[in-house]
Amino acid sequence: MRDPSAPAFWEGLYAQHRDGWEMGRAAPPLVDFVDTTPPPKGRVAVPGCGRGHDARFLASRGYDVTGFDFAPAAVEAARALAQRDGVRVAFERRDVFALAGEYTNAFDGAWEYTCYCAIDPRRRAEYVRALAAIVRPGGWLLACFFPFRGAPNGPPFPVSRAEIARRLAPRFRIARDFPPLRSARGRQGRERVVLAYRVC
Ligand SMILES: C[S@@+](CC[C@H](N)C(=O)[O-])C[C@H]1O[C@@H](n2cnc3c(N)ncnc32)[C@H](O)[C@@H]1O
Repeated sequence: MRDPSAPAFWEGLYAQHRDGWEMGRAAPPLVDFVDTTPPPKGRVAVPGCGRGHDARFLASRGYDVTGFDFAPAAVEAARALAQRDGVRVAFERRDVFALAGEYTNAFDGAWEYTCYCAIDPRRRAEYVRALAAIVRPGGWLLACFFPFRGAPNGPPFPVSRAEIARRLAPRFRIARDFPPLRSARGRQGRERVVLAYRVC
């Protein structure tokens, strides 16, 4: 099955160890941004959090973090790793497209990394709407978009600056947009960090 909208697709990749995105640590662009220009503290959502390395990092820096993923294997691993490290993070098994009702305006910020490129590209507008629904007006969206350049038949599905600007525009105001200093191996030159604020 190759339907990235189905949890079974991702669960299958985890089961077969075909998790080529796995870094075993927080994403360097996130670490660099938070350690130099930390967004205001508060409640932060991490959609498509995988094994939760970024979520644990944010929690270790004082954010109140909830990671969301719809693959049971990811949530199970994320909870186990947080327990191992003694870090307080909530991990919820949820489809990110279904968060709006339960989590409307619940978060002061969100961190997006490799969920945007994982979903069916036809659902990107819907995904931005879902993020806008859970981040309170005036709240922040920090994202590292990837991959600039790449085969169209993802995941990961490629992104472009024009498309990101267009998708975010109605609901988020982009304040910063720059290439990260550090990226994981194989991702150098193919990522951009965006800081945006939810339009009130
Ligand atoms: C490419 S992985 C990236 C995981 C993590 N962000 C990382 O960088 O290690 C994409 C993750 O998003 C999850 N995902 C994809 N679509 C989702 C959806 N609609 N709702 C919740 N999780 C989703 C997958 O289960 C998978 O764990």
